[in-house]
Amino acid sequence: MTYPTFPSDCTSMLCRFLTPEVFEALKDKKTANGFTLEQAINSGVVNPDSGIGVYAGDEESYTLFAPLFDPIIEAYHGFGKEQKHQSDLNPDHLNAPNPDPEGEFILSTRIRVGRNVAGLPLGPAISKSQRNEVEASVVEGLESMTGALEGTYYPLLGMSKSVQEQLIKDHFLFKEGDRFLEAAGLNRDWPEGRGIYHNHDKTFLVWVNEEDEMRIISMQPGGDIKEVFTRLVTAINAIGEKVPFAFSEHLGYITSCPTNLGTAMRASVHIALPKLARDMDAFKAITEKYHLQIRGIHGEHSESEGGVYDISNRRRLGITEVQAVQDMYDGVSALIAAEKAL
Ligand code: ADP
Ligand code: ARG
Repeated sequence: MTYPTFPSDCTSMLCRFLTPEVFEALKDKKTANGFTLEQAINSGVVNPDSGIGVYAGDEESYTLFAPLFDPIIEAYHGFGKEQKHQSDLNPDHLNAPNPDPEGEFILSTRIRVGRNVAGLPLGPAISKSQRNEVEASVVEGLESMTGALEGTYYPLLGMSKSVQEQLIKDHFLFKEGDRFLEAAGLNRDWPEGRGIYHNHDKTFLVWVNEEDEMRIISMQPGGDIKEVFTRLVTAINAIGEKVPFAFSEHLGYITSCPTNLGTAMRASVHIALPKLARDMDAFKAITEKYHLQIRGIHGEHSESEGGVYDISNRRRLGITEVQAVQDMYDGVSALIAAEKAL
C-alpha cells in the first residue's frame, strides 16, 4: 500500500493527521483480528469530503494505530491521552426541566448510545457468522424485556421496502446505502444480521448491527429530556445485564467511529428555529459556545427543512452522560431564548 492521495481542498481529520511519517509507521501493522491501516482509513480515502474519515475494527485498533487515532480523538473531543473517562448515568443528577413546556419549538427529543459486544470485533472487522451471533444474542436479551420496554424485533432481511422506507421517514430506522459506512466495510452482507427492535409506542428502540452492534435509543414527541434520559438508562441497564458491553477505562464505551467513544451518546432535539435560521452566523455562535452539532431533519449528512434542525451534543468522551445531555439542554435553552428575542 502506498500513501493515499487527497484532493488539495480536503479538510478531513484523516488528511490532517495521516502524515507520511504516521503512514510509514503504521502501514504494515495488523490487529489480532487482522484489521489493517488500509481498512481503517478507506472510508476517508474513498470519501475525501469526510469530516473524520477513520473507523476502528476492534478495541486494539485504538492502541495499535494510536499515532493516527489519538490526535483525532483529541481534536474531536478535546480529550488527552492521559485522561480517564467517567460515566454517570444517574437521572437524578440531571437538571433539565422541559425547556419548551408550551411545545412551541421542540418537536421531539431523542437520546441514543452506541454499544458493542465485549470481546468481539467491531462492525468493520466482524465476520458474517460473528455478526449473526451478535444479532441472536442481542435479540434474545431484548425478547426478555418486560413492561414499557417490551416489544418486537424486526429483521431487515425480509422486511418489505415500504415498511422499511416508512420507518426511515418517521426517524425510527437507520438509512440504507450510506457511502461512509460502505467504504468502512460496515455494509458487508447487507441486510443479513441487521434489524430494529422497538416497544409498542416506538419510544424505546434498538438498532442491531448498523454502525455499532447496538444503538440503544429512547425518543418521544416534545421536550421532556429527563423522561427520555430516564427511559434510556433503564434500557441500557436491562440490556447490559444480558449482553456484556465493550468498555475501556481510558476510552469508555468502545465504538467503531472515534467520534462516538466515551459515552457514545447523542442527545438531540428536533427544533423549529425559523427566525434564527435566517442568521446562520448568530445561530452557529450559540451552537459553538455550547458544544452543539447541527444536523438536518433526516439525520447526519441531511438538510434542514422548514427551519427545523436536529441539535445535539458534539462531545461524547471525557464528559459523563449527564454532562452530555446537559450540554444539549443548556444550548437548546439558549437557542430558544435567542429565537424568542427575534
Ligand atoms: P445517530 O443519531 O444514530 O447518530 P442520525 O443522525 O443518522 O444517526 O439519526 C438517526 C435518525 O434519528 C434520523 O432519522 C434522525 O432524523 C432521527 N432523529 C435524530 N434526532 C431526533 C429527534 N430529536 N427526534 C426525532 N428523530 C430524531
Ligand atoms: N465517517 C464520517 C465522516 O468522517 C462520519 C463521522 C461521524 N459520524 C458517524 N456517524 N460516525 O464524515
